[in-house]
Amino acid sequence: MWGGRFEGGPSAIMREINASIPFDKVLWQQDIAASRAHVTMLGAQGIVSGEDTATILDGLGKVAAEYEANGVPEDWDLEDIHMTTENRLAELIGPAAGRLHTARSRNDQVATDFRLWVRDAIDQADAGLAALQKALVTQAGIHADSIMPGFTHLQTAQPVTLGHHLMAYYEMVARDRSRFADARVRLNKCPLGSAALAGTGFPIDRVMTAETLGFDSPTDNSLDAVSDRDFALDYLMAAAQCSLHLSRLAEEFIIWASQPFGFVRMPDTLSTGSSIMPQKKNPDAAELVRGHAGRIVGCLTALMVTMKGLPLAYSKDMQDDKPPVFEAAGLFALSIAAMTGMVADTAYRTDRMHQAAELGYATATDLADWLVTQADIPFREAHHITGAVVKLAEQQGLALDQLPLPDLSLIHI
Ligand code: ARG
Repeated sequence: MWGGRFEGGPSAIMREINASIPFDKVLWQQDIAASRAHVTMLGAQGIVSGEDTATILDGLGKVAAEYEANGVPEDWDLEDIHMTTENRLAELIGPAAGRLHTARSRNDQVATDFRLWVRDAIDQADAGLAALQKALVTQAGIHADSIMPGFTHLQTAQPVTLGHHLMAYYEMVARDRSRFADARVRLNKCPLGSAALAGTGFPIDRVMTAETLGFDSPTDNSLDAVSDRDFALDYLMAAAQCSLHLSRLAEEFIIWASQPFGFVRMPDTLSTGSSIMPQKKNPDAAELVRGHAGRIVGCLTALMVTMKGLPLAYSKDMQDDKPPVFEAAGLFALSIAAMTGMVADTAYRTDRMHQAAELGYATATDLADWLVTQADIPFREAHHITGAVVKLAEQQGLALDQLPLPDLSLIHI
């Protein structure tokens, strides 16, 4: 594809380090769609004849059908999905295939394909997060009156309801969805026509290709368009932030499922057993969601460090943009699905939660507030009195409402 000025071929190590086909083959659908849009535009503009345009479109259909049926072949000599497709097209339709790459470079091609892929990933994340919100709001509705202890420092603080607690995660997910929506707006511009870096002298129609591929408009600066991976970083940042939320929810379930808490019985479908301890039911899915968050943050870090300090325009370092995004997207989709199943199918042991809310003097703040409103005592003093009440209750091994009134009266005369 580029051997004209070369005398020798690449060494084995060059072929291996250069090849992105092992991972970028997942872009084949986006690559075919972008090539179809591009050649249709070249035909409409009279840059490629109607006959060649039709031949190329037909050939691309055949290549796509082969990929669909047999997978994408991995030939390192063809480097990437773009050259693999063009090479197969040439084998199928002959010299007309050589016209497809008119007014195009792999640099604007890969930027376009990758944007299309990340756009799908954003849409999938949004659908998954909408389902998680639905599961949260459903359980929150069922448990609007189920009392549980609320914690600060993981110490019993004040009574809350399970519904209140679950809806906190609904809010986090709402913010996550807005971050993805925001990223999608910035992403949705089409780099095609930027060519290698400087645009092209051919009379192309960039609005046409942008519209065909569902973009809002073409990108504005060709140097930026071929070297911008902000859209991938935006996606990873939103995914990393969301994975932190998912890991916090996972951690709550892990704590709640442990025997001393016993607030939930996790669904069998999302738990595993132990090979030695027959009684064990381990919250592996939740632990893996907690673990995956670390890996997703790692993927974000990897791409940030890859992009750091790169001069304009395209550099081959940028080929390394895809593995972290693909890895993070896979881990992220699994994490969302696992947490959605967990929220929906967990047995919430509201009796245990209620009992726990009665321990730890969770209503002490309410007693202090009562002294303020009923006895007109300044809050600081009420706080102090209530502290003494708690101390007495602790000494006697009683709950606040079990303390005898004469004992209570002695505290504040
Ligand atoms: N495989 C390359 C990538 O993923 C495509 C662009 C290559 N462009 C180039 N000038 N070598 O980034």
